[in-house]
Amino acid sequence: MVRTAPRTVDDVRRGLAAHDYLADEGLATSIFLALALERPLLLEGEAGVGKTEVAKVLARWTGGELLRLQCYEGIDAAQAVYEWDYSRQLLHLRAVEAGGGEVVEDELYSDRFLVKRPLLAAVAHEGDVPPVLLVDEIDRADDEFEAFLLEILSDWAVSVPELGVVRAEVPPIVVLTSNRTRDVHDALKRRCLYHWIPHPDFERELAILRVRAPGVPDALARDVAAAVEALRRLELYKPPGVAETIDWAQALATLGTARLDEKTVDVTLGTILKYREDQERVRAHGVGALVEAAVARSA
Ligand SMILES: Nc1ncnc2c1ncn2[C@@H]1O[C@H](COP(=O)(O)OP(=O)(O)OP(=O)(O)O)[C@@H](O)[C@H]1O
Ligand SMILES: [Mg+2]
Repeated sequence: MVRTAPRTVDDVRRGLAAHDYLADEGLATSIFLALALERPLLLEGEAGVGKTEVAKVLARWTGGELLRLQCYEGIDAAQAVYEWDYSRQLLHLRAVEAGGGEVVEDELYSDRFLVKRPLLAAVAHEGDVPPVLLVDEIDRADDEFEAFLLEILSDWAVSVPELGVVRAEVPPIVVLTSNRTRDVHDALKRRCLYHWIPHPDFERELAILRVRAPGVPDALARDVAAAVEALRRLELYKPPGVAETIDWAQALATLGTARLDEKTVDVTLGTILKYREDQERVRAHGVGALVEAAVARSA
């Protein structure tokens, strides 16, 4: 029922590419199946590989509203599902009383005073175009919250005691992401389609640089993609993600760098490696050797 209903995996790949997201065959297939089978999609992968961006781009492509739920330790129903707007209820109560009227309790628990958080907003959504519900970094939430989420994702319904059960007219497109700081439970995984997003290979990363950092000269973009590929082989504490690759290429271009050289890499290492230990490891390995290998690879 997606307005841009994809008929093939290639439709998905092209649809996302039109919004500057370059998915490989595996990811495009998972997204295609999640849309076709109306199943939530759980995306795992290291930091900065483009997990969150999938949901944002899906929303832009399908025209669906993006509803984002950022998870954190201790997140509960009030932040995820709904809350009553207590201060507005109180104001209403006072206003009615001041006017000499009487407040009927039902009036206070009506849609008007209901604050819909992303999960309720997703099932209460009206219209033909399903919203895109992004449940970001689910691994940060605790077990109880996961169990609770599972219920909603199974029934596409939310119960609000004062109002009754709200059921989705069209199931939302659901993307869950995890950085895998802990494992997501099997029950939730069973409900979802699963895809692990790896770091892009050299060619894909270069293609991503071309669309996301078009101002960067091609020779420099090639050097950067090759150097990042080499950096990721060094068993760093936090290997650079795609976001860092883009930042680095833009930083280098801003400095007027035409091709990578040892000195420039050394002084700009902070745009790509955010841990001192990682920078030390790269320096111990030899920045010169890294640059030499990268330039040879990119030629
Ligand atoms: N396949 C891709 N095509 C185009 N751009 C990409 C791709 N993958 C990543 N990016 C770029 O990298 C940036 C970071 O991606 P994103 O924030 O989605 O990563 P993430 O996996 O959610 O990271 P984190 O785990 O830190 O939240 C995006 O804003 C986008 O610019
Ligand atoms: Mg993210």
